[in-house]
Amino acid sequence: MPALTATTRATTPTVRAVQGRSAVLEQAIARDPRSFRILTGDRPTGALHLGHYFGSQQNRVRLQDAGVDLFVLIADYQAITDRYAQADLPDIVIGLIADYLALGVDPGRATIFAHSQVESLNQLLLPFLSLVSVAEIGRNPTVKDEITAAGSATVSGLMFTYPVHQAADILFCHANLVPVGSDQLPHIEITRTIARRFNERYCPDAPYFAEPDGLLSTTPLVLGTDGQKMSKSRNNSVPLRATPDETARLISRAKTDAERHISYEPERRPEVANLLVLTALCLDTTPEAVADEIGSGGAAALKAIAIEAVNERFAGLRARRADLAADPGYLRSVLSAGNERASAIAAETLHRVREVMHQRY
Ligand code: TRP
Repeated sequence: MPALTATTRATTPTVRAVQGRSAVLEQAIARDPRSFRILTGDRPTGALHLGHYFGSQQNRVRLQDAGVDLFVLIADYQAITDRYAQADLPDIVIGLIADYLALGVDPGRATIFAHSQVESLNQLLLPFLSLVSVAEIGRNPTVKDEITAAGSATVSGLMFTYPVHQAADILFCHANLVPVGSDQLPHIEITRTIARRFNERYCPDAPYFAEPDGLLSTTPLVLGTDGQKMSKSRNNSVPLRATPDETARLISRAKTDAERHISYEPERRPEVANLLVLTALCLDTTPEAVADEIGSGGAAALKAIAIEAVNERFAGLRARRADLAADPGYLRSVLSAGNERASAIAAETLHRVREVMHQRY
């Protein structure tokens, strides 16, 4: 019997290395978009916010529109790593689909699905778990951070194993590209390791799983109104679907500083810089240009311009979202169609996995 840890170790490459590789991949996408299948996902913990939009959602739509095959996963099992499923989960999931469609995911081309509904995908978790050691999962820095952030005395088994589940999310449909933030790179590495070990162990002559690449976006991170990572649970987020008044209320309470002259200095004035970045992203300009325009107008002028920029940028999206939300039956049908398509692909993959694992009797 070969030892569990086989010949390869999971070590996460540096962000810089992945950035370099991402630039090469972008060129390959521009040349031949149809050779790529992208899988991206969100935990259904609430409505999408501006951080999601500029961090990942906009990038997905760009890639879809370039001709890449897009899979969008609602990670409803991953949502219960640190909390129990709530009665409002169906509303959150259907609301996410409204967000996706309003921001440009095209249900005619993309596959939107929830992994709890795709049974064969989940079954891949078992063979995949056999390919990694407990120590390797324990070393995963993102899992460690999340365990600390959850602040609970106990850690659920699902919290501990979700990166392996994520490998199943990616490999079931043979996605070869996963757009991510740098916090997800350790998970991509576990996925690559699992693909490699599966092939080495069961089908060295005809490798079945390709190793996917992470694709880092070049968009600067939009932080929450308190200058921390934007997140619903931190109460510092501006939801995409917020009304203009809600947007004004949320941005007015953003942290700034007392200097009247507005300048873009991310290190020294992170909160001011964040509002400048947000405004610049909404207006398709640079934070420096926004700062120049405000000059000595102070924080009040900065907030006013940020509020207007967000409200104008998202007016169309918000109107589309309101229309979509009025027809939950349609949104559910989009999800069912995605679940079915994902299930057919997952069943085929599981069939093949059983075959090479000598589990067809
Ligand atoms: N871990 C991701 C997050 O917390 C969500 C996710 C689950 C995911 N499975 C995935 C992302 C597969 C990319 C690929 O946001």
